[in-house]
Order: sequence, then C-alpha cells, then structure tokens
Amino acid sequence: MKEYKNILTEIKGRVGIVTLNRPKSYNALNYQLLSELMDSLTSFDKDKSIGAMVITGNEKTFAAGADIIDMVDASPDDMKKSPFIPAFDLIRRIKKPIIAAVSGYCLGGGCELAMSCDLIISSESAVFGQPEINLGIIPGAGGTQRLTRAVGKVIAMEMILNNRTLSAEEAYSFNLINKIYPVEDYLKHTISLAQEIAERAPLAVQAAKEIINQSFDVSLTEGLQNERESFFNLFSSQDQKEGMNAFLDKRDPSWKGD
Ligand code: CAA
Repeated sequence: MKEYKNILTEIKGRVGIVTLNRPKSYNALNYQLLSELMDSLTSFDKDKSIGAMVITGNEKTFAAGADIIDMVDASPDDMKKSPFIPAFDLIRRIKKPIIAAVSGYCLGGGCELAMSCDLIISSESAVFGQPEINLGIIPGAGGTQRLTRAVGKVIAMEMILNNRTLSAEEAYSFNLINKIYPVEDYLKHTISLAQEIAERAPLAVQAAKEIINQSFDVSLTEGLQNERESFFNLFSSQDQKEGMNAFLDKRDPSWKGD
C-alpha cells in the first residue's frame, strides 16, 4: 500500500479506511492532505476487494477546517487558482459509499468533508460547526449548501452567520448525522457498518448512492426518471438474478458485482 505523509490508510475486510493524520494542527486540511485523501479514495474505489470506505480523524478531532496558514495572505485570484477547493469536488466522483467517523472537532472544511460523505457516524464528543465567519469568510467547500439541505435554513443560518456549534445530540436531532456512540467505540461501529454495506450487492449499492446524491441536483421528474433507468439497468446484472433466485431458494445470495 502507498505511503502518505498526511494520512494513514488501512484495509479491514472489505473496508478501506483513511485516517487524517496531522494531529498537531488538529488535522487542518491543506492541499497535500486533501490530495492524498482523494488519491487513496480513488484507489480504494478501483479495488474490487473493497466495497465501502471510512474517513476518520482521531478522538479529539475529525478536522478543524481548511489550513488557515495556507490562506492568510491569499487574494481572490490565488484562491481561484488554487487546487484546494476543487479537491473537495473529487469526492463526488467516488462510486462506493463513504462513511465519516467523527469525534471531537468537526469544523469548517472538516464539517464540509464529513457532509461530503454518504453517512456520518459520530462519537458523543463531536462538535459540528462552520466557524468561517470568525475569519471574515464564509464556507467555501459546500457548507452553505450541504448544511442547509441537511439541517434546514434556520439552523444553518445560526451556524454560519453566528458560529453556533452543534453537539452530537443536536446534530442527530437535526438530521446531520446517522448515529452516536461512545468515544471508545464509535470507530469500531463505523467500520462494522461499512463492512455490512460492503457485503451487499455492489452494483445496487453504487447505483443507490449515485441516484440519492443526484436527487439534490435535479427536479423530481428528472430524479424519478434517473431512478427508473438505474432500476431497469440493474436487471442486466448477474447479481439481480442471484438476489432474486436466492430469495426464492431460501438461501443467502452470493454477490459477484457483475
Ligand atoms: N488551520 C491551521 N491551523 C490550525 C487550524 C486550522 N484550521 N485549527 C487549529 N490549528 C492549529 C492552531 O494554530 C494550533 O497550532 P500551534 O500549536 O502551532 O499554535 C494548533 O492547531 C492547536 O490549536 P489551538 O491552540 O487553537 O487549540 P484549542 O484547543 O485552543 O482550539 C480549535 C481548538 C477550537 C479547533 C481551534 O484551533 C480553532 O478554532 N481552529 C480553527 C477552526 C476554524 O476556524 N476552521 C475553519 C477554517 S476555514 C475553512 O475551513 C474554509 C472552508 O470552508 C474550506
């Protein structure tokens, strides 16, 4: 497996795990870290032995946002030319499901990274926030859009305009995250969930992820049409025949990903 400087990678069963690893700067996201993250996710995506991925940090911090040191002297043109923000877009091209396992600070670009994942599992200590207003800027990696779609306008306004942070309980009650576990075992539970998903029919899992994520971009009519096409297409897969025959034969299916 490739050696990276700012992340650690590991494979457990059918799950590819990426750990953000700049603990001294609270996993502040610089371009090097993001490009390593995207490189590792892309190789996991290509690897047929992997069915799902987990992105995590450490118990104290998932990530405290974009690296402020890299941005302090930047002009609008510098920011436009920088590959930093586009690096966040690459995550949208990943076909397999990604789960964020969040503990401690999940702020700014860190919260935007978690929200770019497909599910978010949190420890009891997690704190979610978009504190960019304190720096005289707004979120630039999707925060105004993804947060609003997740928690609704009124809470997003409070968080982005006035640096309201959410505890794990609040984040759960506002539909930002899927589940909360104690700090000691949030990661273990996230990996088990990823493993469960990774063992399901791969083409159907990827089709479902794609169509659900597309629903934020398209009209209901277009989304229903996309869903229908994807549903019909799955009937050309061996896994559809296997899944339905296994049900009728009262046995467990054996998925091939074809
Ligand atoms: N960028 C660069 N360095 C950071 C950082 C960041 N986002 N967050 C923390 N650090 C560094 C600190 O500068 C400090 O470094 P030194 O030890 O060299 O001084 C180290 O991490 C520890 O931080 P603190 O001393 O501040 O630790 P704390 O426990 O008192 O506070 C914290 C922790 C609440 C996370 C605080 O560090 C903090 O508020 N960080 C900034 C959060 C933030 O504003 N995020 C948004 C960034 S902008 C963005 O993300 C734009 C976007 O949309 C893409």
